[in-house]
Amino acid sequence: MPTRIILDTDIGTDVDDCLALALILGSPELALEGITCVYGNVLLRARIALKLLALRGLHHIPVFGGAEQPLTRRDGIYWEGHEGQGLLEPAEENLMPQSESAVDFIIRTVMNNPGQIHLICIGPLTNAALAFLKEPHLAQNLAHLTLMGGVVRGMNRLDLPYCEHNIVCDPDSAHIVFTSGAPITVVPLDITTLVKIDKAGLERIRKAGMPFHAAVADQIARYPRFAAQGQTSLHDPLAVGVVIDPTLVQLQPVHIDVETAGRHSAGATWVRTLHPGELANIQIATAVDSTRFENFFIERVEQ
Ligand code: BDR
Ligand code: CA
Repeated sequence: MPTRIILDTDIGTDVDDCLALALILGSPELALEGITCVYGNVLLRARIALKLLALRGLHHIPVFGGAEQPLTRRDGIYWEGHEGQGLLEPAEENLMPQSESAVDFIIRTVMNNPGQIHLICIGPLTNAALAFLKEPHLAQNLAHLTLMGGVVRGMNRLDLPYCEHNIVCDPDSAHIVFTSGAPITVVPLDITTLVKIDKAGLERIRKAGMPFHAAVADQIARYPRFAAQGQTSLHDPLAVGVVIDPTLVQLQPVHIDVETAGRHSAGATWVRTLHPGELANIQIATAVDSTRFENFFIERVEQ
C-alpha cells in the first residue's frame, strides 16, 4: 500500500518545491491526497501546483490555498519575484484552488483517516500550526509529519545562516508544531545543503522528453540561484526522499526548541539529545548518502 500524503508547500519561490512535487509524482510508494499552499501569494502558488499537475495529466488531485501571513510576526513576506514565470500563461488565471481552506482540508483528511495520513511540510509551518490549534486531536491521528526546516550549526558549518527560512518565516508556528506531540521527522538545512542538482541533472530531466519534464527543467534554469551558480540544493526533495526511503539519511531522536524571540536568533532551532527517560517524538537527519539520493532523485523525476 502506498503511503498517503498531503504536501504542504510554498511552491514557486525556491525551485526545490517544484522538484519535491516532481519526485512525489515519480514515486509509486506515495499516494498524493492533496496539495496545500502556504506563505505569501497562495493563489499563485496553487496555480503553479495545478499547472504542474495538469502537465502530468493529474487533474483529480485537489490543491488548496492556505495561510498568507505568519501567525504573529509581520517581518514582510520574502518574495523573489520570478514565481510562475515561464510556467503560467495569462489565460491560466482560471486555474483555481478548491474553495475549502488548506487547514480544513488537512484536518478533514487526517481525522477521516486516523493513523493513515503523512503530512509533508516544505514551507513555513503556518498551515500545520493552524490545523493543530483548530483540531486538538490532530497530532494523535496523524501517521507522521516530515518537514524540511531548521538548521543545526556546528564549527564545521559556519557558512550556514543562524536560522533556516521555513522556521524563521514563522517561528511561532514552528514552536506549535514541535510541541504538538505528533511524530515528526526533521530534515534540516545542514543536511539538505549536501544534496544538489547541477546542469547535467537539469539536462537529464529535460531529455526525459515530456512537456512536464520540459517545464520542470525550465523552472530549474530560471531559478536565480541556479542561473548564477549552475547548481542548487535539493532541500525539499530530500524530505520527500526520507518518506520514501528513510535509509537515505541517518536519523537520531532529539528534543527541539524554537527560539521565538531574540535580536539575531528568532527562528533558531535548538537541538539536543534526549535526557534519560525522556520520550522522543522528534527525530532529525544527521547525515545523508548524497550520491545515492542525487541519483535516486534524477531517476525518479525522469519517469
Ligand atoms: C527551504 O526554504 C525554501 O526556500 C526552500 O524551498 C526550502 O523549503 C530551505 O531553507
Ligand atoms: Ca519550500
